[in-house]
Amino acid sequence: MTDLLTAAYSPEGFRQQAHALVDLLADYLAQSESGTQPTLNYLEPDEQLAYWEADFAQPTNADPVPLWNDILKRSIQLHNPKFMGHQVSAPLPLAALTGVLTSLLNNGQAVYEMGMTGNALERIVTNWLAGKLGFDSDAGGLLTSGGTLANLTALLTARAVAGGLTNQPIDVWEEGTTNRLAIMVSEEAHYCVDRAARIMGLGSDGIIKIPTNDRFQLRTELLESYLKEAIKRGLTVFAVVGSACSTSTGSYDDLTAIADFCEKHHLWFHADGAHGGAAALSETYRPLVKGIERADSVVVDFHKMMMIPALVTAVIYRRDADAFRTFQQKAQYLWADASAKGWFNSGKRAFECTKLMMSAKVYTVMRTYGEQIFAQHVDLLYGLARQFAGYIQQQPGFELAVTPESNIVCFRYIGSETDFTRINTLNSLIRQQMLTDGQFYIVQTTLRSQVWLRVSIMNSLTTLDHLKEMALVVKRLGETM
Ligand SMILES: Cc1ncc(COP(=O)(O)O)c(C=O)c1O
Repeated sequence: MTDLLTAAYSPEGFRQQAHALVDLLADYLAQSESGTQPTLNYLEPDEQLAYWEADFAQPTNADPVPLWNDILKRSIQLHNPKFMGHQVSAPLPLAALTGVLTSLLNNGQAVYEMGMTGNALERIVTNWLAGKLGFDSDAGGLLTSGGTLANLTALLTARAVAGGLTNQPIDVWEEGTTNRLAIMVSEEAHYCVDRAARIMGLGSDGIIKIPTNDRFQLRTELLESYLKEAIKRGLTVFAVVGSACSTSTGSYDDLTAIADFCEKHHLWFHADGAHGGAAALSETYRPLVKGIERADSVVVDFHKMMMIPALVTAVIYRRDADAFRTFQQKAQYLWADASAKGWFNSGKRAFECTKLMMSAKVYTVMRTYGEQIFAQHVDLLYGLARQFAGYIQQQPGFELAVTPESNIVCFRYIGSETDFTRINTLNSLIRQQMLTDGQFYIVQTTLRSQVWLRVSIMNSLTTLDHLKEMALVVKRLGETM
């Protein structure tokens, strides 16, 4: 072994680096959680790149602390209570620490002995979640790297299992298909559903987008006519995707109505609960996901509403056995019997071969704090969104897009403007200015051609006062533009 490699693997060296890192991160947390510093120090992409290119050209430094410090200072702070932009959690420090453990172990999960504990914990966590979603003991699932991959995985299973109107599944894996396959989905669904469908070769015709109502929910009364029309056009619909909830406005589709429709037509019902599936854990908000227990597959991101660092997503199937029909891979170097259905070889059911040992983060949080921590988090954030929406409604010069159902609130500043083009520009300018100021991080979205400011309240340290202060900043900027 070379001197360099010996030093790099030194347990004592690791101890020192780890202590230094934990000290650095604890200070970072204290500063970030206080909300006294900007959420981000915004730099234009080319400026940021130039900084790091210059850094890369420097000689190596045996002490990583200055570099870690720089990475912290040049990254957006999700633990800052003024972070209220995208739907990424402020991770629990305990879950992040468990990430150090699992990174060092680097157990790959695909085959049992390369993930003995990881696969067992995954089984426990997914069975637990299946129960919380309201499924019976036939259900089960797997963990995968993010909602995007999870939705693709579930739709691949749907294609393999669901027969559509003929109730005859097509063996696309073995035989390919010339059938024009299609799914039905709300026009407000996350773009990854559209992407999954295109990856699966469905093309634009195969993604039937159903219009939404004034609460941005899929208009379930249109499903029958859209299906008839699809059949007339020669399409074979095999699945319907319900959003629980949608991304832009956090609206929950009527899952019971979708379940009824899917049962009637032998269609696969997939619920995208990447963001809002966690409502099932809350007694107060559980009614929002009523009907999810009738879905054939459900996706829930632990790295959104459940405070786990990215990426950890569950794909839960009403019938666990369906998960083994997604991929029928033969890989002699991994599994002697490719057709055996053991739960313990993750690679048979998940997209990934080598997969992060993600289950340990969720499991450690549950064993340390109890599952109630998830419900408390959902209750807090969903409740706060309702309070903030009420506040916005009382403010002259502001408008609310829709009463929030989750922790996502879309609103805009209109002042005394009546011209929609001008209101759109005004809100885009406000958001851009807030980004460069860096104090509060919020985002914008477009709903039916109108620009809205959008907050996702992801951090349980965020209070109504923070949100009111943010609205005041919006108002002040709006008045000067
Ligand atoms: C409803 C919904 N589905 C899927 C995704 C994609 O999840 P991921 O970012 O984990 O790939 C998102 C992300 O915001 C989402 O809101």
